[in-house]
Amino acid sequence: MAKTMLPGRATEVPTVGRADGIGGTLAFRRDQLGFLARGVRRHGDIFRFRLLGIPMILVNHPDHIRHVLVDNAMNYDKDAMLFRVVRPVLRTGLIAIADWDHWRRQRRLMAPHFTPRAVAGFARNMTDEIGAMLGRWERDHRPGDVLDITDEVGQLALRIVNRSLFSARVGDTAQGFERAFGEANDILGAFFRFPFPPLSVPTPRRRRLRRAIASMDDFVSGFITERLRRADADAEPDLLTLLLHSVDAEDGAGMALENLHHEVLNICIGAYETTTNALSWAFYLLARHPEVARRVRDEGDAVLGGRPADLADLPRLPYTRMVVDETLRIYSPAYMSMRHARAQDEIGGHRVPAGSNLLINSYLLHRHPDFWPDPDRFDPGRFTPDRVAARPKHAYVPFGSGARVCIGKHFALTELVLALATVNQRHRLVLPPGAPEVEPEPLITLHPRGGIHLAWEPR
Ligand code: HEM
Repeated sequence: MAKTMLPGRATEVPTVGRADGIGGTLAFRRDQLGFLARGVRRHGDIFRFRLLGIPMILVNHPDHIRHVLVDNAMNYDKDAMLFRVVRPVLRTGLIAIADWDHWRRQRRLMAPHFTPRAVAGFARNMTDEIGAMLGRWERDHRPGDVLDITDEVGQLALRIVNRSLFSARVGDTAQGFERAFGEANDILGAFFRFPFPPLSVPTPRRRRLRRAIASMDDFVSGFITERLRRADADAEPDLLTLLLHSVDAEDGAGMALENLHHEVLNICIGAYETTTNALSWAFYLLARHPEVARRVRDEGDAVLGGRPADLADLPRLPYTRMVVDETLRIYSPAYMSMRHARAQDEIGGHRVPAGSNLLINSYLLHRHPDFWPDPDRFDPGRFTPDRVAARPKHAYVPFGSGARVCIGKHFALTELVLALATVNQRHRLVLPPGAPEVEPEPLITLHPRGGIHLAWEPR
């Protein structure tokens, strides 16, 4: 395709033509990952298409990703289509907030509570809850029973985040949260694929979304109100206490109650859905690759000798960590992100007009053949220190990068390694006979279509 030369050296971004559907909309809706993969094959690492009239630019090279997320990050905010869709739920919380000044202050208040050292304080919750899940399996199931793993690890993720945030043991309220979140997620996922009619139009869908948001709000405000009411509120050494007492080093002020509410909700949502997908995919991949599961088990035998993994074991479980890294490559749970260009820019020699929506799709990036040979093959060996050092850092961004990198990255990685090591130590999760291959379903996050179901046996 001819490239339009502009004043200076920059050329227009190649555009997907009508042959791909109305500028891409139909094909994107039908098969988002296939449509984008075809675009990359035909046009290269940057191309433009239209999604319901909104011009989108896909960027798919590590240099482009570094440019947008790190080198020129201040030119790119989250006033982009994806975040506009999810903002009715996430509101002013860190995940979707577009305003850089507001984001900076909130991140300053929260970051100290998510460092590796701070996360270490929550590892005990993780070990305990993983042990409790295995106890329930042993109590409620017989060898050979097929478990709904996605449901099991979803509950686990929610229990862990609830204990870490609120010192709460999960009961019926958390099931209410799960249901409400699932409802909001379905509605917004469908709306993202076809944003019509606008959510401001009164429809049954809007009423359902409002009810779901109100239910999640009740869940969060119940904990906050109760904590503020109690005289011994500081007794609980949890994230809520820490956030309630956070003080900004620059202006000496704390977090407004409304912002605290939104941040707590953002943590619940950020921690729940992504971790659930990551663990589901990890157990699925291990079941499909028994030789890898065996190595995880061998490592566990040598390090743990039958007991559950805890924080101190992490440095001695490098292979388990490589399995986690490779899972997050193949099925990157937060596979899609967007940015909005505040001013005109140039990426890879192409002109990016002000106001453009940029799409980053880590499912595709993590399969870029220049950096990932045989990209569909599950191979934890890609994550030995030597091979990591030989690749551009931004060929792999399961947690994003730059200022807006996932605040829960250490929390998530700790939880994932502890869960994989402990479950594999004492139990086997295998594919039931005749189980079909599970397809990824690209919603707001990357779900296993139909969920992961595996047969359970104590070891
Ligand atoms: C496997 C699990 C997880 C994955 C794959 C994941 C992925 C991501 C990604 C890719 C981003 C950046 C999005 C962007 O740049 O547009 C992000 C942001 C965020 N995540 Fe996570 N996440 C995970 C777990 C968690 C956990 C456990 C928490 C909380 C405890 C959390 C809280 C957040 C928050 C608050 C942000 C917004 C950060 C900011 O903009 O300052 N995430 N996550």
